[in-house]
Amino acid sequence: MIETPNEIRDTIRLRFAKIAQSPHDRPSFAIGPDSAKKLGYDPAEIAGLPATVTESFAGVGNPFGLGELRTGETVLDFGCGAGMDSIIAARRVGPTGRVVGVDATEEMIAKARANAATVGVANVEFHHGEADRLPVANELVDVVISNGAFNLCFDKPAVLAEVYRVLKPGGRLQMADVLLGDDVAESEVERKGAWSD
Ligand SMILES: C[S@@+](CC[C@H](N)C(=O)[O-])C[C@H]1O[C@@H](n2cnc3c(N)ncnc32)[C@H](O)[C@@H]1O
Repeated sequence: MIETPNEIRDTIRLRFAKIAQSPHDRPSFAIGPDSAKKLGYDPAEIAGLPATVTESFAGVGNPFGLGELRTGETVLDFGCGAGMDSIIAARRVGPTGRVVGVDATEEMIAKARANAATVGVANVEFHHGEADRLPVANELVDVVISNGAFNLCFDKPAVLAEVYRVLKPGGRLQMADVLLGDDVAESEVERKGAWSD
């Protein structure tokens, strides 16, 4: 049965609320610090972060492998989850830079804020919001990063239009995500689980 977009959205939010609040009840996909290390993050950098920062990491790649962040840059992380990438980015751009994390799941935003306070990173802020309606001013951002969120967004052209709107001229997009392979059956694509498992 094909669910409505609202039903699928609710399921996605419930799924990620659970990953924020109970990361040790393992979902069917890889999460946490070991997953980050497998995806190419610096093992020492991951090991140096408190468990609460890394345990709900649910990324599918490493946006930092796509280009360096520079001191003083402003970064947007859409679908920021519990904030691990945002916190890493905030450390990279330093106190003269700024990071804005946006996520559609309130429990993830609450955890990301707590995580930033735990590690004492002050140049990051987190907002509850949707990637296709980013709560960010025009041409504010030097770099947009994202990790595993774009595939969960319904209106992908609208998300890309938002990315373009918030980027300064010449800004960069460093996005890690999953692609739909030719071997995936239509019935699997139509299942709600395809969006949230
Ligand atoms: C696979 S998780 C990745 C989280 C984070 N980037 C990380 O690497 O840990 C995807 C995240 O995207 C968020 N999300 C899903 N749909 C969204 C949307 N339309 N707008 C903003 N965030 C969304 C979810 O709440 C979830 O936290």
